[in-house]
Amino acid sequence: QTGYVTLDRGYKNTGATQSAITFLDGEEGILRYRGYSIEDLASKASFLEVAYLLIYGELPTANQYETFSNGIRRHTLVNEDMRKIFDGFPVSAHPMCVLASLVSAMSAFYPDSYEGNKNPDLHIVRLLAKLPTLATWSYKRALGHPINYPKNQLDYIPNFLHMMFALPVEDYKVDPVVAEALNVLLILHADHEQNCSTSTVRLVGSSQANLYSSISAGISALWGPLHGGANQEVIEMLEDIKADGGDVGKYIDMAKNAKTTGFRLFGFGHRVYKNFDPRAKIIKKAADDVLAKLGVNDPVLEIAKGLEEAALNDPYFVQRKLYPNVDFYSGIIYRALGIPTNMFTVMFAIGRLPGWIAQWKEMREQKEPIGRPRQIYTGATLREFVPLEQR
Ligand code: SDX
Repeated sequence: QTGYVTLDRGYKNTGATQSAITFLDGEEGILRYRGYSIEDLASKASFLEVAYLLIYGELPTANQYETFSNGIRRHTLVNEDMRKIFDGFPVSAHPMCVLASLVSAMSAFYPDSYEGNKNPDLHIVRLLAKLPTLATWSYKRALGHPINYPKNQLDYIPNFLHMMFALPVEDYKVDPVVAEALNVLLILHADHEQNCSTSTVRLVGSSQANLYSSISAGISALWGPLHGGANQEVIEMLEDIKADGGDVGKYIDMAKNAKTTGFRLFGFGHRVYKNFDPRAKIIKKAADDVLAKLGVNDPVLEIAKGLEEAALNDPYFVQRKLYPNVDFYSGIIYRALGIPTNMFTVMFAIGRLPGWIAQWKEMREQKEPIGRPRQIYTGATLREFVPLEQR
């Protein structure tokens, strides 16, 4: 090896870049987007305002917001030829597989470059505008329902809800409680500094690959059960506990014997937060509020609270500083909003899209070098080739 290499598996102690977008303090449980606290934004801003803030660095003026949101309205339609790609998937395809593939396919429909483009923001607008449209296709097809076209007179989140739940046989009215709950959830998922999927988006983009291919790679990384896929795993785990008589102690014990059981409490633990995930605090409170407003009584919520209580009082979790993370309660709200379990990580992707775009844009504007980490070689030393007849 020329020079020496510091091994840092999982990049636990490696700063990969400098960034002005999101600030995390894992010890204090602080999360800010461009200096604004997540608590402030989640209670006062709209998701598109937060998207603009992350991508362009400032909260938009009324004019800037008008231009931005109208630009998005003008691009919600997807090229009809994308339907041919979509129709090739088996109905059983996971929505995240479909989404990653269709976003990658967008680079075939919009091949003009980013940097060389006189209007690079058009690629940003296209992704923000079309992701919700593409996201609803899998859900409608799984039900055997016709896919809905976007309605441009609707705002961003109501338009998504319309595409998800409207049926041609009856009127559909967006419930403001549902739209507001979704606004909070999407804001809370919008960015999180150099997490696995964002690092993936940056790494792919650092080779000068196009924005769509980079975002598609991020969607694939997010799908993993240790990352965004955890929100689906949490609900499935809570359902198992419910089916098992609600005995949370048994699952706590299984998690404590992870070496033999291979079981993890999904929705617990975080690489950075060694205290409460501030997003989990907001989502937990929102779960109570939203379910009460919607008149939904979900026994899984009580099981989740019982599991949290048991874990927070168990030395194994306390020593390892394992607290509920953003994925622990989010699925309970999604479910109350009528969103099925296999769409939870798609919701995470819709929320995280502005963050991925902001981080990719910053990486390209900062002219970051192509990402190319080294390794510690542990393989064979030099040896001679042995011809087949002698092996
Ligand atoms: C997200 O990075 C981000 O910011 C991600 C995210 C974002 O917004 O982008 O916040 C979104 O991905 C949240 C995390 C969702 N994932 C899960 O809920 C899956 C369950 N959590 C774990 O797999 C784990 O906590 C991670 C992946 C989140 C973090 O893993 P680390 O930092 O590599 O920690 P680790 O796996 O080394 O665990 C440290 C110890 C280990 O025990 P020991 O080897 O020391 O004995 O804690 C244990 C682990 O076994 N442990 C758990 C556990 N998580 C860690 N034990 C039981 N249940 C768990 N959930």
